[in-house]
Amino acid sequence: VPLEETSLPLFFGWFLLPGIQDKVRCTSMDFLKTLDTLEAFKKHLPDFTVEAEKEVDLEQYFQANGALHCTTKFCDYGKAEGAKEYADKPIVKELYGSAFELSLSALFVTPRTVGARVSLSEDQLTLWPADAEKEAVPAAATLPAGSRAHITLGCAEGVEPQQTGFDLLEILALQQEGQEGELVEEMELGSLAYYGKGRWLLSLREPVSAQACFSSLYG
Ligand code: A2P
Repeated sequence: VPLEETSLPLFFGWFLLPGIQDKVRCTSMDFLKTLDTLEAFKKHLPDFTVEAEKEVDLEQYFQANGALHCTTKFCDYGKAEGAKEYADKPIVKELYGSAFELSLSALFVTPRTVGARVSLSEDQLTLWPADAEKEAVPAAATLPAGSRAHITLGCAEGVEPQQTGFDLLEILALQQEGQEGELVEEMELGSLAYYGKGRWLLSLREPVSAQACFSSLYG
């Protein structure tokens, strides 16, 4: 009996190939290393952590997260709403095991998570669940499909990885309301903007193209 008929996975998603995982981790580390030395970051430190007088070493602050991936559908072994419907979609079956090029267009940091925004192509959007944004943050209900697509790069102690998508959607909802963020600095990697409450977004000058395989994790 094939495994897919006995149980559903923890989640479906695009799994970055090993070489590009290293590259993305390095880019993220470089960003964190620079961010916590910026005067602007130090100025907003009280928004970031309650221990206002202390410095923050962002590389220590976030715990790395297993194999880098962009979740499409969290199934929780079939317990999540819509899990079976998603797994049964012909497009999901057809593209299972195929290679894709994901485009990483931004990095973001909040007091809870650090992640990369993934800008999905039309083809990739065919694998994106219709309700992914709606079920997350009410303010995100009107954002375009795929807005939540991200790679979790790290979480602060005690924070669950699904928070990364909520943090991204919060920033995108602010942008949609017309808040462009306070442009803080042109960095080598791109332009850094501040959205208040410890939320930072680095729009990459050159999006990072990441090879990934559409598959699932049983955990
Ligand atoms: P993310 O996609 O933001 O990284 P866990 O380790 O908590 O079981 O999660 C496994 C993966 O599924 C993680 O990548 C996580 O977050 C994602 N995930 C967990 N819970 C949810 C959820 N309720 N909705 C969407 N994705 C989730």
